[in-house]
Amino acid sequence: MDKLEELRVKYLGRKSELTDVLRALGKIDPKERPMIGQASNLAKRVIEEAIADRVEFLQRKQEDVALEKEVFDVSLPPRGEKTGHIHPITRVITDLEEYYSRMGYMIYDTDNLTNEYDNFDAVNIPDNHPARGMWDTFWVKGETKNKGKLLLSTHTSCVQNKILTENVPPFKSMAFGRCFRHEATDSTHEHTLYQNEGLVVDKNLSVGHLKTVLMDMMQFIVGERVEVRLRPSYFPFVEPGFEVDAQCVKCHGKGCKTCQRAGWIEMLGAGMIHQSVFVEAGYKRNQWTGFAFGVGIERLAMLRYGINDIRYLYAGDKSFVEQF
Ligand code: PHE
Repeated sequence: MDKLEELRVKYLGRKSELTDVLRALGKIDPKERPMIGQASNLAKRVIEEAIADRVEFLQRKQEDVALEKEVFDVSLPPRGEKTGHIHPITRVITDLEEYYSRMGYMIYDTDNLTNEYDNFDAVNIPDNHPARGMWDTFWVKGETKNKGKLLLSTHTSCVQNKILTENVPPFKSMAFGRCFRHEATDSTHEHTLYQNEGLVVDKNLSVGHLKTVLMDMMQFIVGERVEVRLRPSYFPFVEPGFEVDAQCVKCHGKGCKTCQRAGWIEMLGAGMIHQSVFVEAGYKRNQWTGFAFGVGIERLAMLRYGINDIRYLYAGDKSFVEQF
């Protein structure tokens, strides 16, 4: 290409012989002018075309060489699609919603912002009851007309009174919602968490029914039979009350990192509905039986996926979430 440019300058450039001739045309004898003019213009065109042809030929050649060097490896794997996916907590919630609604449970949502009455009084925790201290509460400025101070719901049990008053037993209900607790976090506790609240009312219900419902639910979540352990515990709105542990599905009770060597993972609080909770909702004492349970959704996700620190679920770390 450089050589061609040199030739173009030499034969067609401002200092070329041909340009001299063309410039001098005016001074030539008018009789000879047309002949010399035509001949030199023809020469110019022929040279221009010859150079243009050659330029085109060389350019094509350059492209061919470049294409030959450019190798496409069609066997390389494609770059991963950057699509989002459902968070493990959301997945557990939607799975449970489907599971319980298929079994005839009514599905409720709880409010994040609730009040003293629904969160405490209605579930047998009156003002000044020491059990109020069991939930480190985030109080919110302001007061309701007749339900006391505002607060962030500390447990999904805050919807029990509404469900009991809105429905005529027998019924089965399941409520999902967030809970907020003014407490320090550790590997099994978060200040903001999800719970689901089961509330079942019928005649002659027993702890046996409760335990069966919980074992079936855990089997559904984990995909295999899970051993369940009931430990007597105190919640003002149930009697008797329990804390319920699931056997670690990773080590089957032997003790491993996931269950912090305990063999068991605490999953939920539960019990038989206290008659005072029925009475508060307008029922006659001892007419109905029922059971209630409040399950930590994060705990279920941890059991299902073998996660040993609840804080991973909220760390916003993509490399963690992308595993599920
Ligand atoms: N509301 C209790 C808690 O958050 C759990 C619970 C629910 C216990 C229902 C008994 C019955 O700790």
